[in-house]
Amino acid sequence: MRYYDICNLLKSVGIDNAEHEASLLLERFCGLSPAELLISKDKVFDCAELYAAIQKRASHYPLQYILGECYFYDEKYRVNENCLIPRSDTEILVELAIERLPKDSLFADMCTGSGCIAVSVLAHRQDCTGVALELYEDTLKLAEENAKLNKVSERFLPICCDVLKNDPILIDNNTPQFDAILSNPPYIRSSVIESLETEVQHEPRAALDGGEDGLIFYRSILSQHASLLKEDGFIAFEIGYDQGEQICTLANEFSFSCEIIRDFGGNDRVAFLKKNI
Ligand SMILES: C[S@@+](CC[C@H](N)C(=O)[O-])C[C@H]1O[C@@H](n2cnc3c(N)ncnc32)[C@H](O)[C@@H]1O
Repeated sequence: MRYYDICNLLKSVGIDNAEHEASLLLERFCGLSPAELLISKDKVFDCAELYAAIQKRASHYPLQYILGECYFYDEKYRVNENCLIPRSDTEILVELAIERLPKDSLFADMCTGSGCIAVSVLAHRQDCTGVALELYEDTLKLAEENAKLNKVSERFLPICCDVLKNDPILIDNNTPQFDAILSNPPYIRSSVIESLETEVQHEPRAALDGGEDGLIFYRSILSQHASLLKEDGFIAFEIGYDQGEQICTLANEFSFSCEIIRDFGGNDRVAFLKKNI
């Protein structure tokens, strides 16, 4: 198969960025650098692994799972079906945490998944330490691998626990300790999930499903874990494009002020919460 054949096949099934994806597949499975590709566009590539990957991608299986890696913020991450693929939307939360965490902070990353929030913050804030909470052991192992890959594992403390419960791991030491709670929890309304694009259907449902109103994780973190926050600490949540108003109402119910930060498309993206003193 030639480079152009791969592009045409991917385009024919509605993949937008077919040229870029074809070059990434050739790099991953045939070791072809972007420079080499420029002089090899008519070359026939005959490789079973490449064919299998193209077929998978043509069925709208996510490219990042096929490649086994992706880039987020300034870091490289290993990814597989045990984790949500890190999104560029989440970089806004990372940027904000890097800017606003006080010196020598201890923060929690609740629902850490691939570990991308905690790891990228730690990579840019050498003075900070992060506790990463996740329900699934295999997912948490992947987050630990990513911490190692990005050389922050000494300041990355993984905890396997359920943030929807008052897990004893968290309440045993119920003293305010965190300078910040960061979280991109599952926030999609259960009824909407089936209508999402095919690629998303391959991601773990547990990483998407925020319950009937999409808010169960925010409610749980505010009601059960906000006591772990120091008096002048903050919470930064990633939120859905239409959730700003609801999150502010919820935050006020729990005596927090709430600032909504929008993304480049003008949509609600991050909620920044501080305790009302
Ligand atoms: C939206 S993903 C976010 C992953 C990562 N923080 C990111 O921004 O890409 C949510 C994560 O929460 C985890 N999760 C789901 N239910 C959980 C629970 N009850 N307790 C802790 N983690 C949970 C999922 O396994 C998933 O890894």
